[in-house]
Amino acid sequence: MNTPASSPPRPRRGYLPLAPPCLGEDEVNAVVEVLRSGWLTTGPRVVAFERAMAEAIGVTETLALSSCTAALHLSLAVAAIGPGDEVIVPSLTFAATANVVEHLGARPVFADVLDDVLTLDPDDVARRIGPRTRAVIAVDYAGHPAELDALRALCAARGLLFVEDAAHSLGASSGGRSVGTGGHPVAFSFYATKNLTTGEGGLLVADPAFLEKARPLALHGLSRDAYRRYERGGPWSYAVLAPGYKYNMTDMAAALGLVQLKRFARFQERRRQLAALYHAGFAECPWLLRPVTRPGVESAHHLYPVRLVLEALAAERGTILEELQERGIGASVHFLPLHEQPYYRERYGYQPGDLPRTHEAGRRLLSLPFHPGLADEDAEDVVAVVWDVLGRHRR
Ligand SMILES: Cc1ncc(COP(=O)(O)O)c(C=O)c1O
Repeated sequence: MNTPASSPPRPRRGYLPLAPPCLGEDEVNAVVEVLRSGWLTTGPRVVAFERAMAEAIGVTETLALSSCTAALHLSLAVAAIGPGDEVIVPSLTFAATANVVEHLGARPVFADVLDDVLTLDPDDVARRIGPRTRAVIAVDYAGHPAELDALRALCAARGLLFVEDAAHSLGASSGGRSVGTGGHPVAFSFYATKNLTTGEGGLLVADPAFLEKARPLALHGLSRDAYRRYERGGPWSYAVLAPGYKYNMTDMAAALGLVQLKRFARFQERRRQLAALYHAGFAECPWLLRPVTRPGVESAHHLYPVRLVLEALAAERGTILEELQERGIGASVHFLPLHEQPYYRERYGYQPGDLPRTHEAGRRLLSLPFHPGLADEDAEDVVAVVWDVLGRHRR
């Protein structure tokens, strides 16, 4: 695609949002059917969704939850992480990854990311392990799996729990192994912008013994079949096994997820096509770096985050992002580093330079509209407008 800065971009047809959900009549009908069924909360659809997800991921069992945040929180709670403990997490992530550590009274310790794929740097993680470290949470940034083998080996050698925040990476694989099949706890998100949505929702995948402990904690610590106690002939009695949480998925959400799962392979194929289209469109662009996929990795292509080459531009990221939005391109930022956010900065005294690669990425990242509903023409418009806006700010 020839899109030099001098060629006037076509007028935009309307605003292109970052990542609207891809929903059709089948999703609408599935949810309406649940509304008419008389059973809204955790029930047969959730059971069916858990089974279907287990089959899709390639594991024996899954636990459907109200969010990925819930799955992350439960993973740490099952391991009894609490006050006095430290958990190593990336700073270049959504707030949830670190917030769940705080929720348990433990301390998140931020580690830097690799410069190319922006996932946790195993060497930096190793440097930050101390006597209080109990766990490491890796994030599969933008759909690219983290260095799972290296991090899992490091955690095993040091007796730490390894948790994967796979909010972005359903359907990804590395070294031929699908995300979710590594045996360690993996947390998926079905938030409205995710590759598969249930509106709000999440899934925990782990070995059966771990899930056995997580399952009651997801529903007030009640004994396993508590939801069945309203069925005719169902067990009327229940036991409270622990002061658990309210993290169960609803049948409405699961019904939506079951339909989305049928469409998932096509969604992913479209994401691959769009990533290739952007990749070609920006191949010659001197003002940005495109996202990198390492050899042997199949990314889930959740986001298309570019990094601005600020040295070649006379404007900051904020100015460029606002201009893109004014021109109808729903650009956004994933993420503002957590160690630079007021709560974490003030509580733990972080300086931006404590995590230099995260800090630099945090100033430069810009996510472009990216979802299976994006037409080729829309993606071509995005490429043209980005070229034009950056070209106007060239140094
Ligand atoms: C990296 C990452 N982790 C966790 C979450 C939390 O997911 P949820 O909204 O399902 O709790 C998100 C959500 O956007 C995320 O991007």
